[in-house]
Amino acid sequence: MSFQAALGDAAKVSEACIADVLKGCASAIAEPMIYATRGGKALRAFLVLESARLHGIGPNEARNAAAAIECLHAYSLVHDDLPCMDDDDLRRGNPTVHVKWDEATAVLTGDALQTLAFELIAQTECSLQARLDLSLSLARASGIKGMVGGQAADIAAETAQIPLTLDQIIALQKGKTGALIEWSAMAGAVMSEAPTDALQTYGDRLGLAFQIADDVLDVTGDAATVGKAVGKDQSAGKATFVSLLGLEGAKARASNLVDEACDALAGFGDDADTLKQAARFVITRGH
Ligand code: IPE
Ligand code: IPE
Ligand code: MG
Ligand code: MG
Ligand code: MG
Repeated sequence: MSFQAALGDAAKVSEACIADVLKGCASAIAEPMIYATRGGKALRAFLVLESARLHGIGPNEARNAAAAIECLHAYSLVHDDLPCMDDDDLRRGNPTVHVKWDEATAVLTGDALQTLAFELIAQTECSLQARLDLSLSLARASGIKGMVGGQAADIAAETAQIPLTLDQIIALQKGKTGALIEWSAMAGAVMSEAPTDALQTYGDRLGLAFQIADDVLDVTGDAATVGKAVGKDQSAGKATFVSLLGLEGAKARASNLVDEACDALAGFGDDADTLKQAARFVITRGH
């Protein structure tokens, strides 16, 4: 299957799973939860499903894990867009949750999406040990050692007296964006209790390349195509690869990382072609 078709399928699988679990739920938070989890690229769900496929696990067994990471990711975006963070009005071409509803709704929507992710993981179709490994690794990737820690460093860097070094930017971005992408790429191996090393290296390089591409799009993209405001990183004084290496330096770095990501998959042979296409997409995408 081509990468684009697989990406489209991943969005459908994840959206259907979230719709199933929220069906009949009377809470006012259900609608913004569904809203916040739709309309994205579903790259993380794709990585879960594709790494699962590489280990002989089909979409019906992996759907909970795919939906879980999209919930976790959507929560991070809903909170990232809040006025107290990046203060953004546009996400995926639509008003952000706090603009469409209000701030309290956005905070609670993010909270509920985060806990739903772990509810879904606890019910994923794999061994007890694998479920434990999935949930422990997702907690680490999401929290102080991962996404939240990276977001905190990102905000601190805006007011830092001394600009961050390259190593500090790498550490920041590995947490902020890399950890959830790495978790997604490893999920299939974790589900089948197989070695995770190759997919971990792939996910690590891909995660970094992904955030570099996001930072590049913030400079080169237009809001209509990207689906969110652009030009924000520089005006906010964000520390990015672009701020340190310049546009061309950042692009070259991302391209090297994609080569490394693809090399890490050598052991899977042709079976990993779709993951390799995904890696190239990450740095050529327009949104
Ligand atoms: C955007 O992630 C936020 C970052 C981590 C850079 P995506 O570009 O994957 O966003 P969606 O899910 O496709 O909207
Ligand atoms: C935020 O990074 C990534 C997370 C939500 C963890 P950005 O602030 O660069 O993401 P965008 O550009 O708003 O999507
Ligand atoms: Mg941000
Ligand atoms: Mg942001
Ligand atoms: Mg950004």
